[in-house]
Amino acid sequence: MSNKPKHKTETPGLSPLERRSFRRRILSWYDREKRELPWRGENDPYRIWVSEAMLQQTRSETVRLRYPAFIERFPTLTALADAPQDAVLAEWQGLGYYGRARNLHRAAQQVVRDGGGVMPQTRDALLALPGVGPYMAGAIASIAFGERRAAIDGNALRIMSRVLNLLLPIDTPPAQKAIHEEAQALVPRARPGDFNQALMDLGARICLPKTPGCAQCPVRDLCAGHQAGTQKSLPVKTAKKPPAPYTLFQFRAERDGLVLLAQRERTGLFGGMWELPGFMLEGRHEKAGSRRLRAQCARLLGPGWRPGRELARITRTLTHRKILFVVFLAEFVGNGASPANRDGLLWASEEDFRTLAVSTAQRAAWRAAGSALAEGDGKQVGR
Ligand code: ADE
Repeated sequence: MSNKPKHKTETPGLSPLERRSFRRRILSWYDREKRELPWRGENDPYRIWVSEAMLQQTRSETVRLRYPAFIERFPTLTALADAPQDAVLAEWQGLGYYGRARNLHRAAQQVVRDGGGVMPQTRDALLALPGVGPYMAGAIASIAFGERRAAIDGNALRIMSRVLNLLLPIDTPPAQKAIHEEAQALVPRARPGDFNQALMDLGARICLPKTPGCAQCPVRDLCAGHQAGTQKSLPVKTAKKPPAPYTLFQFRAERDGLVLLAQRERTGLFGGMWELPGFMLEGRHEKAGSRRLRAQCARLLGPGWRPGRELARITRTLTHRKILFVVFLAEFVGNGASPANRDGLLWASEEDFRTLAVSTAQRAAWRAAGSALAEGDGKQVGR
């Protein structure tokens, strides 16, 4: 036998008795205190799936306002699968991370095509759908199908790191292993979906990132972090890479009160969404160079269009990118033929602008350019 000392690198977790107590307390807290949300009490797996797709990266206060309209517009999985992508993206507006909407749409089509419209009913089968990762698969399987599976989102990670008093950074393999094992062991056979949602609500209401409300917490006696007084400094995180800088140069062309929009490629960042035509450069660039601007303007809008003065610049930070939007006026100096009538280009009215899939960042760029124009020459278009 090796005489190397055995080091325990993980906190051991709760005993079976403590687990039972944890479940009982958290479920009775949930029965008293659960948030009233439009998807609570929903039995339709498709509708539960939509709620989880929305909630994965968007705050529940925002989702509770947008979810009912989405469900009204696409009440069934088939309705969603049959809809054009543009309609799905438009209905996703304001929720951000539009890749989720594209995946949901593709996944619905896959379920109709391969499963006759019947959703996969286990966590493992759900994982085969586009956009469904371990968290979402666990959430849908437990809430919609009663499978005993953990669903570990940011809230659950924070709670578990505190319950276990995990002093390792949570993105390291031993910390992940400890959290996943304990969370899975805690999920009860009865009411697994309610248990997972109770953790979500506890994370949203009590076990808050900066100000954990331990005095109100139903499981504080079972929480090693609370006992050690480390709760506020948990979870331990490794420093994140700062978002990479990009610059998007765009052109605002106007004709008869309409503003020209271009549709992005179907895939990739903001895929399929509409924006002022433009080109993206890696890095932050204060200037594009006038030759490049002229060439890009003619390429994107058509011959006869040339860049005018700069109208606006705004910066928006997404998860992995920090984008500087620089908007130029575009002027038509050609003659004759109606310019910019290609596929993927659209002369948009304000009404179009409201209903098309346009990101929140693009709306801000459009508005800033419209305001600059209105202030500059008295015209007020597209605000
Ligand atoms: N966050 C993710 N899923 C959720 C749910 N079902 N209820 C509340 N918050 C959530």
